[in-house]
Amino acid sequence: MTTSDWAEVDRYLVDSLVGDGDSPTLAANAAAGLPAIDVSPPQGKFLYLIAKSARARRVLEIGTLGGYSTTWLARAVGKEGQVVTFEYEPEHAEVARANLDRAGVGDRVDIRIGAALDNLPVLAGEHPEPFDLVFIDADKANNANYVRWALKLTRPGSVIIVDNVVRNGGIANADSTDAAVRASREVIELIAAEPRLDGTVLQTVGGKGWDGFLYALVSDQD
Ligand code: SAH
Ligand code: DHB
Ligand code: MG
Repeated sequence: MTTSDWAEVDRYLVDSLVGDGDSPTLAANAAAGLPAIDVSPPQGKFLYLIAKSARARRVLEIGTLGGYSTTWLARAVGKEGQVVTFEYEPEHAEVARANLDRAGVGDRVDIRIGAALDNLPVLAGEHPEPFDLVFIDADKANNANYVRWALKLTRPGSVIIVDNVVRNGGIANADSTDAAVRASREVIELIAAEPRLDGTVLQTVGGKGWDGFLYALVSDQD
């Protein structure tokens, strides 16, 4: 099997089951020259279904890009829900704002521009209600820092998901010098060592190649 076979399966699934996600968003992202590193439509729907299963009303996202994953999450939280999403690049945030407004979910999304590690303490200082789900999908080197912040901003029963942790299988190599692989291993080892978190990684193939999601549950125990 090759990436093109996997992409063909993704296309079949989009046509048969997933729905088109939000193709106007993906088209606008391409027109604006954004990198095509959004979650795939089946993955976006999976995030939406996880958020619905968890009855999430409050979602925190780190890494907005053009708001494709944000749109799925914003649909899942419903009219009374809220998504707070952090984006470093003002140009990405501007494209995302237009996409979210066009998709009809703009009023439930708070986009905060800047480095997430600068904005996380600001958010924490607002003493927000705990987030039910955190989706981490930004600069991979900070994944462990983002999970530490997510722990402060959630409650027992909340879900933390980290995108792109498998890195074409690179995470099996303990001696890898690739910064993103090392960051994946760091966040996996953090979760293994953290008694308040229980986790697993689901490897994925698809139009975006071989990668995977880390899924962690914030536990009831200290
Ligand atoms: N979640 C999006 C894809 C995000 S791509 C989707 O699936 O549709 C990663 C994004 O993280 C990029 O837009 C990048 O600009 C942003 N990013 C990178 N470093 C960041 C940082 N330190 N703080 C916040 N966002 C960052
Ligand atoms: C990259 C980043 C992502 O979040 C992703 O899903 C795929 C690729 C990247 O930086 O290459
Ligand atoms: Mg990603």
